[in-house]
Amino acid sequence: MGHTLIDGVKTIVAITGASGTIYGIRLLEELEGDKYLIITETAKRILEAETDYKLADVESMADKVYHEDELFAPVASGSHRFDAMVICPCSESTLAKVSHGLADNLVTRAAAVCLKEGRKLIIVPRETPQSTVMLRNSLQLAQDGAVIMPASPGFYPRPQSIDDIVDFMVGKILDQLGQPHELFRRWGD
Ligand SMILES: Cc1cc2nc3c(=O)[nH]c(=O)nc-3n(C[C@H](O)[C@H](O)[C@H](O)COP(=O)(O)O)c2cc1C
Repeated sequence: MGHTLIDGVKTIVAITGASGTIYGIRLLEELEGDKYLIITETAKRILEAETDYKLADVESMADKVYHEDELFAPVASGSHRFDAMVICPCSESTLAKVSHGLADNLVTRAAAVCLKEGRKLIIVPRETPQSTVMLRNSLQLAQDGAVIMPASPGFYPRPQSIDDIVDFMVGKILDQLGQPHELFRRWGD
């Protein structure tokens, strides 16, 4: 907070039920501006299984927290101003729904709002291997204007820890959002 560049920017962060919930948590820690958080029920269980974070601690990093069922929340409407949305990590289930225009919970509805309003939508899928169904869905979304950023950290900055590997991905997401950061050493620096 307190950084003039990002003041007034509102970003939705959705953590869905894919492995790699730590990416979403680190993004919340680093992201500036107003943060609206949605964690799906599956993601809550995965978060508990693969990190030491408590749900309440993660939720306290956001300015507002919504349940995935809150379809009457402000961010469900295009008339509510927010600037961008990052689904991180994004399950292939959520990705499939967004690519087909299904808006059955607050994550998929807010993503649909991004696409219809021309707002930045960043999707961080984590699944391997990828079926042709998954690849088709990602292609469709990329063609429809979303930024597809598979959780696929680079190793050229010579990471020394898991934190470094996570920070690489988070830094790449912040690059897409236009937020300056020093989360990894850039090639050539
Ligand atoms: C422990 C665990 C790990 C999972 N990891 C992934 C994953 O990495 N990628 C993925 O696409 N789905 C994964 N899934 C499956 C999704 O959680 C499942 O499709 C769920 O319906 C997604 O719902 P959501 O997108 O609404 O959170 C995982 C499920 C569990 C229980």
